[in-house]
Amino acid sequence: MYNITVIPGDGIGKEVMKATLSVLDALNLNLNYTFAEAGDECLEINGEALPEKTIQLCKKSDACLFGAAGETAADVIVKLRHEMELFANLRPVKSYPGTNALFNDIDFMIVRENTEGLYKQDEEKYTENGAEAKRIITRQAESRICDYAFKYAVKHGKSKVTGVHKANVLKKTDGLFKKIFYETAENYKNKGIDAEDFYVDATAMYLITQPKTFEVLVTTNLFGDILSDEGAGLVGGLGLIPSANIGENGALFEPVHGSAPDIAGKGIANPLAMMLSAVMMLNYLGETEEAENLDKSILKVLKESKNLTPDLNGNSTTDEMAEAVKIELLKFN
Ligand code: NAI
Ligand code: MG
Repeated sequence: MYNITVIPGDGIGKEVMKATLSVLDALNLNLNYTFAEAGDECLEINGEALPEKTIQLCKKSDACLFGAAGETAADVIVKLRHEMELFANLRPVKSYPGTNALFNDIDFMIVRENTEGLYKQDEEKYTENGAEAKRIITRQAESRICDYAFKYAVKHGKSKVTGVHKANVLKKTDGLFKKIFYETAENYKNKGIDAEDFYVDATAMYLITQPKTFEVLVTTNLFGDILSDEGAGLVGGLGLIPSANIGENGALFEPVHGSAPDIAGKGIANPLAMMLSAVMMLNYLGETEEAENLDKSILKVLKESKNLTPDLNGNSTTDEMAEAVKIELLKFN
């Protein structure tokens, strides 16, 4: 049995979570859900967007599923990543049929450092002349993320990891990142994993000109944030992009999209980003067969192009799409 903390959150977060849980019910797994509150509505009701009770539940559980928050998203998700020490942010970029993907056969993983770089908020401040932010690169955090990326490559049968940086200009911070990247790579040579590195600006171009050559990318916080949204653009948008936040003692899985107030309450949100986040959770829990079955079911529904939500040019509802996935999934039993 797995203990899963479920935070539906706000807006379509609640809708895609409900749809995803209904699909997970069709798996041969004993998932024990504990529902927890966070987000705008939670703030209104409880006076805080992320109650201590929610943090404690997340820390205790085997994994967490998070829908979306509204305006409080930064307070909720940044704080949870910090509290749970979720150092790796994984965002797979994969093209599916029946979508608006710019290319077929794209399938790579961006591994983004989640704790430092330019995103240490307490290091940003106003100065007499304007404002400044500090870019923090520590050996500990960067070797941890590089090692995670190479381990990921080994585990998933990949043959190459690409390190992304700007070491020609940021000689000290990214110079160190590059050095650590290649030091880590040494440990994986005998496991058949090649290493290459590119500057981040060139990578932004290569993602469009040769996206199929990438397998695993590893990079610092800000670059990973930007490149992963570029990746989302490559494969057809927000309704399809899941993510994982992984730490040594916990993990949280969430779609990349937000609460989408423009479509919330209409029952037409695409639930696949949330379902694909659940696929990542199942893989994390070691339930690779169930994960693959769910992934294949989603693929089947996309291929058949019959039960798609409006963002994928269909006219089905969230629940109809979920039902179609569930029907496919039950065929595996
Ligand atoms: P958003 O992701 O909520 O929506 C952007 C656009 O994509 C909208 O037109 C929306 O309808 C569409 N969209 C998003 N997910 C979709 C889905 N599953 N199916 C169909 N269409 C979908 O981002 P936006 O509009 O910038 O922010 C809205 C709220 O969400 C804000 O309050 C923001 O703070 C919050 N937010 C929360 C996040 C989180 O909880 N991790 C992440 C991003 C935004
Ligand atoms: Mg971003």
